[in-house]
Amino acid sequence: MSQITVHGGKPLIGRVDLKGAKNLVTKAMVAALLGETPSVLKDVPHISDVEVVSRLLELHGVIIDFHEDGLMSLDSSNVGSARMVDIDAHAGSSRIPILFCGPLLHRLGEAFIPDLGGCHIGDRPIDFHLEVLRNFGAVIEKLPTGIRLSAPNGLHGAKVALPYPSVGATEQVLLTSVRAEGITELSGAAIEPEIMDLIAILQKMGAIISVDTDRVIRIEGVSRLDGYTHRALFDRNEAASWAAAALATKGDIFVGGAKQQEMMTFLNVFRKVGGAFEIEDDGIRFFHPGGDLQPVVIETDVHPGFMTDWQQPLVVALTQAKGLSIVHETVYENRFGFTEALNQMGAQIQIYRECLGGNPCRFGQRNFYHSAVISGPVELKAADIRVPDLRGGFSHMVAALAAKGVSNVSNVQLISRGYEHFIDKLEALGADFTYSD
Ligand code: EPU
Repeated sequence: MSQITVHGGKPLIGRVDLKGAKNLVTKAMVAALLGETPSVLKDVPHISDVEVVSRLLELHGVIIDFHEDGLMSLDSSNVGSARMVDIDAHAGSSRIPILFCGPLLHRLGEAFIPDLGGCHIGDRPIDFHLEVLRNFGAVIEKLPTGIRLSAPNGLHGAKVALPYPSVGATEQVLLTSVRAEGITELSGAAIEPEIMDLIAILQKMGAIISVDTDRVIRIEGVSRLDGYTHRALFDRNEAASWAAAALATKGDIFVGGAKQQEMMTFLNVFRKVGGAFEIEDDGIRFFHPGGDLQPVVIETDVHPGFMTDWQQPLVVALTQAKGLSIVHETVYENRFGFTEALNQMGAQIQIYRECLGGNPCRFGQRNFYHSAVISGPVELKAADIRVPDLRGGFSHMVAALAAKGVSNVSNVQLISRGYEHFIDKLEALGADFTYSD
């Protein structure tokens, strides 16, 4: 288990550069499975989620070449079945394997998907995915260690309506429908920028996809797809994380590669809290302009709302705002576990079952602690804490960097699931810490 020992209380100042979004790149890698010719993906970050997906693709015969600068080539010309025991070795390490279903069914007629991993931020069921796949004609068998799928009559276009605009289930529909016979109409789709980038990739491969109004996506199946060459969309979750770190530590961070368009909702909130930013051609400078930070009321939501992945690091900055802030989490039912450690460090955060601060959500009256009230400003104190999940873990690290004194943050390897070279980046920002593996 790796650990950092942080001498906090110093502003983070400097520059970090982003690569492609974790939540796009891993799906783009799966899309390459659909191509009969090789693909090239640019700006791929060196994170452990990319490693897991690479290993699973390689098990299925994909030849991957990955360079330090983020250039990845994926040759899927000779895809083959993998041994269940080898696939199973990756059980619990990522959520991406569920997206292998459609592409493997198209390429091989069968698929075995191991039990999924990912952050423990709620139940994270896969019922939408399984329902979608059944709509296309897949037959699903549940095994003790995962699921086995086949498509005895091939996959056919379908009319699919999602009960909630799930990112993963929308991607499942896209990756399955592009080569299914006939037309698919998806309503209730998620329309996150990462999904639009995946659609752009699939179009480059030969797919026919139209994004209509009101969350409707129409796909006309084609019989063959080729590889693609694509530069991945930047990681807006990482950008928001460093922005919050600048604010919480009274620092000044230039985030190279961040773009305004995909971050507008975040930028509005950042400004309301009292943070300042300057948008340049090659990135965005985020800084604390001095003076008091202001409390805000936020509700996380699907795009174009305030992303659920943005709230955790921002909550650390909100502990420094003068007054009461409210964060109502409406995407995941259990995403405030990280606040416990912040309270241990002197934060005053109370979590509630009620839908506070806005509209009632689907978690209301269901015993989920999904609203947080943050009272500030408080002086954060150093503590020994353990990283619980990816975004919560980043927020713990930010709290340790903001708190005066020496904190030990353990289990930090979890952060490398989604933040490339974060130890090097902390060094570049002048953080005072030691790292042990
Ligand atoms: N849901 C179901 N059934 C399903 C699928 C989803 O009930 O079959 C529910 C989930 O439990 C959740 C909601 O629908 O309450 C939304 O889940 P969604 O499917 O949109 O999330 P996801 O695809 O599993 C991706 C990102 C998350 C990000 C969410 C929301 C990846 C690998 N993960 O998850 O990222 O928070 O979309 O934008 O793309 C992260 O990066 O730390 C992270 C958790």
